[in-house]
Amino acid sequence: MNTNASSEFEFSFLDEGFSARDIVEQKINESSSTDDRDAFYVCDLGDVLKKHLRWVRALPRITPFYAVKCNDSRAVVATLASLGTGFDCASKTEIQLVQSLGVDPSRIIYANPCKQVSQIKYASAHGVQMMTFDSEVELMKVARCHENAKLVLRIATDDSKAMCRLSVKFGAQLKACRGLLERAKDLGLDVVGVSFHVGSGCTDPQTYSQAIADARCVFDMGVELDFNMDLLDIGGGFPGSDDAELKFEEITVVINTALDKYFPPDAGVKVIAEPGRFYVASAYTLVVNIIAKKVLMDDDSSSDEDEGTSDRTLMYYVNDGVYGSFNCILYDHAHCLPILHKKPKPDETMYPCSIWGPTCDGLDRIVEQCDLPDLQVGDWLVFENMGAYTVAASSTFNGFQRPDMHYVMSRHVWQHVQEINIKGLPSPAEMTSAFEMVACCSRSTCLELPSKQCQTRVV
Ligand SMILES: Cc1ncc(COP(=O)(O)O)c(C=O)c1O
Repeated sequence: MNTNASSEFEFSFLDEGFSARDIVEQKINESSSTDDRDAFYVCDLGDVLKKHLRWVRALPRITPFYAVKCNDSRAVVATLASLGTGFDCASKTEIQLVQSLGVDPSRIIYANPCKQVSQIKYASAHGVQMMTFDSEVELMKVARCHENAKLVLRIATDDSKAMCRLSVKFGAQLKACRGLLERAKDLGLDVVGVSFHVGSGCTDPQTYSQAIADARCVFDMGVELDFNMDLLDIGGGFPGSDDAELKFEEITVVINTALDKYFPPDAGVKVIAEPGRFYVASAYTLVVNIIAKKVLMDDDSSSDEDEGTSDRTLMYYVNDGVYGSFNCILYDHAHCLPILHKKPKPDETMYPCSIWGPTCDGLDRIVEQCDLPDLQVGDWLVFENMGAYTVAASSTFNGFQRPDMHYVMSRHVWQHVQEINIKGLPSPAEMTSAFEMVACCSRSTCLELPSKQCQTRVV
């Protein structure tokens, strides 16, 4: 493996035939010979490219504007910038990050309906025109501070079945939309389209269909008021890994059907989306080390023995927790379960276990109950699908530092990213072979496959 620091970010090339999983194994081996067994991440940037090709294949009409809030690592943002995606920024700092990579302001939507005045001014001064709103007060702020704004009206959705609801906070009700559009007209503002978000971790594809139909109604209101409505933004909500309840392609079929019905290709409407989780969740693997352990004996173990089950409960303490990467348990309703690094023997006894983070807070619990073998201090646990809403919101509470980050990419993938950057995406005819080439760059894992009891699931 050698390091490439010449680009916008540092990453290591994978040796021919090696995958990100091999790097996990290698890093574990390196640190197992020392006492320095800090938690670490391996991020496979090839997985981000794979997701992009999957997106383009399934949603050819929709330009993704990656939601930076989901994971603002420079490596991820720079990779997506090279691939030509747009960006959904929530703040001045995210706009700065994206623009520092040379992204044109036309590839940015400031998709926060409630913005600080100084940050609207920043967007204006830096050429970012597209921005969302859902209230009259926001319109008045924009009228004062941004004369070239291209406004997108965010509407509420029925996100009651999503893992993380957003329409409780954002989105105008349909009955309020005409009034808002009329107010925008009075203020001399330019409304160009409609956006929505079905909630993060969507479990019902019909929510997209209904929201696209609602967006059509609001488009028609805008057209009646003489706005040049030409942008539909269908937000995020797509799954980040294939173990999610609802598969990406199950959603995309519904979206494409609804788009064809309400916004057919000849309608002249540009369709964008703001996927976050989809692009990054599965690229990141987090590896933590057991730093402490407690054994709790059952008071009445006789009945347990009769059942052939254990007489003890094990508590494992690891070196990352809910104040760090596992903040996704609190904020993103994630359920994280580990994969064992050491292969258990076929007849190995499993114990009811809980897994805790390193801080002194009782809230810092990663897993309340799972079955694991009798592990030792110094053993490793692996958590997959840890790229979304993890590193972006982690803290160093109690002085625990964030895990080291190792970005990797195969040479094939790197060449592919460069080619797309220069020549654009492969033609539809070349897409399948590009997809297969990138998919086969990730060889099967050296790690023990998850047993049924300890499969990782991050929704
Ligand atoms: C406005 C907006 N767009 C996009 C996203 C990304 O959503 P997801 O990660 O579900 O794709 C979010 C997430 O909170 C959001 O608030």
